[in-house]
Amino acid sequence: MSCCDAPAWVCQFDRKRAAGDLRDYREDGPAATTRALIDALLRAGVEQRTVLDIGGGVGAIQLELLKAGARAATSVDVSAAYLAAAGEEAARQGVSERITFQVGDFVDLAPRIPAADIVTLDRVVCCYARMEPLVKASAERCQRLYGLVYPRDQWLTRTVVHTQNFFRGLWRNPFRSFVHSVAAMDALIRSLGFTLRHKVRTFVWEVVVYQRRG
Ligand SMILES: C[S@@+](CC[C@H](N)C(=O)[O-])C[C@H]1O[C@@H](n2cnc3c(N)ncnc32)[C@H](O)[C@@H]1O
Repeated sequence: MSCCDAPAWVCQFDRKRAAGDLRDYREDGPAATTRALIDALLRAGVEQRTVLDIGGGVGAIQLELLKAGARAATSVDVSAAYLAAAGEEAARQGVSERITFQVGDFVDLAPRIPAADIVTLDRVVCCYARMEPLVKASAERCQRLYGLVYPRDQWLTRTVVHTQNFFRGLWRNPFRSFVHSVAAMDALIRSLGFTLRHKVRTFVWEVVVYQRRG
């Protein structure tokens, strides 16, 4: 199957990219915004908690939270290549038996995925056209802390993403990225019973942690 015939994520999140991300993680640890999300979750407390890491890529968040005392993790990723890389790294770090791996689109799998204390989507909503079902299904599976990293909703990021999508179209890569409305996302998460606990911004990204009320 050529890249153009494959589902969009097969082109984008393939074995080569997963191998590169795994090498970067082994050499340098989590990316800066991933580190910021992990640190915010650690400050809120992860000891003996369960984790659901959606679109976790090579597994930085699940691995770092398990290292810090989280009890168990479920890792759901639509890319089999990324999940294989995360599995390889979990084995190398000796935590395979504490992680359950599920391949597939989380929105489809959600009814079969157990709820967790901590749910994370690190740079995932920007890979998905339908923000509402993804955020709703994932927040509904969250019992305590809900962490996200997504691009800032501003003209600069929108311009960059439109340009990237334009060139993907030229190269017949069906993958597209998205800058969703942060106000809509925030309103949806609050309506599902969460309050904002932490927010930091970089030039491009926003890192947020919500906490379930009560
Ligand atoms: C840009 S990568 C981010 C990986 C990692 N979280 C990080 O920040 O390094 C997006 C990841 O989300 C996954 N993904 C995107 N949409 C998804 C969905 N609906 N369900 C599950 N995984 C998804 C992709 O396969 C990919 O591994």
